[in-house]
Amino acid sequence: MKIAVIGTGYVGLVTAVVLADRGHDVITVDNNPEKLAKLRAGISPIYEPGVEDMLASTLATGRLTISDSVAEATQMSEIIFIAVGTPSWEDGSVDMAYVYQVAKEIGSQIKSYKIVVNKSTVPIGTGREVARILQEAGADAKNFDVISNPEFLREGSALKDTLEPDRIIIGSMVPDAADRLSEVYKSFDCPILKTTLESAELIKYASNCFLAVKISYINAFSRIAEICGADVADVAAGMGFDDRIGKKFLQAGLGWGGSCLPKDTLGLLATSREMGYDFGLLEAAVTVNNDQIDHFIDRIRTKLGGFNGKTVGLLGLAFKPNTDDIRYAKSLDIIQAVTAEGGKIRCHDPVAMDNVRSEIGVNDVVVFCNSGEEVAHDCDVLVLVTEWAIFKSMDYAQIANSMNEKILFDGRRALSPAEMESAGFEYFTVGSLHG
Ligand code: UGA
Repeated sequence: MKIAVIGTGYVGLVTAVVLADRGHDVITVDNNPEKLAKLRAGISPIYEPGVEDMLASTLATGRLTISDSVAEATQMSEIIFIAVGTPSWEDGSVDMAYVYQVAKEIGSQIKSYKIVVNKSTVPIGTGREVARILQEAGADAKNFDVISNPEFLREGSALKDTLEPDRIIIGSMVPDAADRLSEVYKSFDCPILKTTLESAELIKYASNCFLAVKISYINAFSRIAEICGADVADVAAGMGFDDRIGKKFLQAGLGWGGSCLPKDTLGLLATSREMGYDFGLLEAAVTVNNDQIDHFIDRIRTKLGGFNGKTVGLLGLAFKPNTDDIRYAKSLDIIQAVTAEGGKIRCHDPVAMDNVRSEIGVNDVVVFCNSGEEVAHDCDVLVLVTEWAIFKSMDYAQIANSMNEKILFDGRRALSPAEMESAGFEYFTVGSLHG
């Protein structure tokens, strides 16, 4: 089928290359000239395992083309996915400017039947608003249908998640349009659930917010475990055997970051407030999440007797492994606290250092190092922030010997307490007796 994907962020680019790989003719559009130049050269503007190879192969077969024109993409395609950014405003509500601008451009170009699909995570009611904008921009109502088809991929495993989804949700008021969109996914082996527009929009928020609540739930238990001497990993393992609870997303740590859970929890809170519903449960999950990193930083501060004059080594900067995304990354909270209180940072991340450099600017209190081993030199404490595999296989005995103080805080429970103690460290982690 002929498909357009507007927006080449994590969702848009992955959707475009996967659909092209599955044999569709895909034209993907962005308005950023730097991104376009990279894409045309077969270079992925984001770090996401496997995407660059699939970009190169789909460009080579001619199944994927890159364009800067929404008009061209609309005219050439039957199905148009909107996958542009939906950032947050200060109050947590969702900034819909990009989605609505794209809808306007699409609407002005619709001359024959098109299906316009919302892939971005958008507030409830957006599907109907997009339909209104399409019509206002000149599209005849009989020439289009709007569908909500939310994306569930995770950064770091986006390609696998898109190629092997748990489910596909198609929210539409028009059964024929929903059937036509299912054709796009006919080679995917997973359940397809057809719902109304509003239900599909809500499923995406309900899923992300549930994951956020689940993580905050175990993180709240990590605090109790630290007080009563239990180990939160044992608690999570014991809970996880129950099929109704499941083992996944019960990893206690520094709390959720990234571009989705923080934004979507605040977005849903704003929407539910507007609707007159006080979603106290979700509000509490956000509070637990904010407290989790503050409490961890407090523990390091207390152990060091304050950050002033101290050097803190950070292993990992990205919000999670296998991505260069640093949005709402816990590393930024630690950098901010340490440097504001007169301390220095040494840090390393396999792929996210450039993004942190552009976020905080170049200064002499944050030193970017070439490896985890280099980070440790003359540090007063080493903090594991992102559980990249590379940090699990370092020679910690040697690392301990290069430090001022042999103190290690493991924010992700990624290292073995026994091994770290035999390497000479005083080892502290989240939710356990250690510390
Ligand atoms: C999340 C959802 O998992 C995806 O299904 C969804 O499509 C995506 O948002 C989106 O809306 O686009 P993502 O933000 O990429 O995906 O990453 P997750 O794997 O969900 O991790 C989010 C955060 O939770 C990370 O900071 C991670 O470190 C943390 N986390 C995750 C925990 O602290 N404990 C866990 O057990 C799992």
